[in-house]
Amino acid sequence: AGNRTFTMIKPDAVEKGHIGAILDQINASGFRIVAMKLTQMTTADAETFYAVHKERPFFGELVEFMTRGPIVAAILEKENAVEDFRTLIGATNPEDAAEGTIRKKYASSVGENAVHGSDSDENAAIEGAFHFAGREMF
Ligand code: CMP
Repeated sequence: AGNRTFTMIKPDAVEKGHIGAILDQINASGFRIVAMKLTQMTTADAETFYAVHKERPFFGELVEFMTRGPIVAAILEKENAVEDFRTLIGATNPEDAAEGTIRKKYASSVGENAVHGSDSDENAAIEGAFHFAGREMF
């Protein structure tokens, strides 16, 4: 039970072989996996997913990065999922992330920051529906 958040293990963390360790930490922190897949975003996918950032100076770099290799996309369920998951992953910039958080352990920079976590229940629903059909959610 509980509510849902959406996450991606980003191309940098997949390239470095951190999928297993990150999923282990997610499981150990009490999240249930509702949906999950290895996939690669197209340029059009990334431009749509990150449309809210399209005027930012880093938008082009963000789209390049997020499309350069496969990601793990997942929907996670837990009481207070959005906020608790953001605590688990740590600050966007790994230099500011708390000790023990996923970004502190696995992220290399503010751009290549290992994982995504939705910032609201509304965005969690939008982002989850972007990546998964209803029949892929359990
Ligand atoms: P996330 O919060 O998952 O989604 C937006 C992403 O934009 C963020 O992770 C970072 O990967 C990226 N981002 C945010 N700020 C910067 C920045 N200053 N330079 C490059 N990328 C950034």
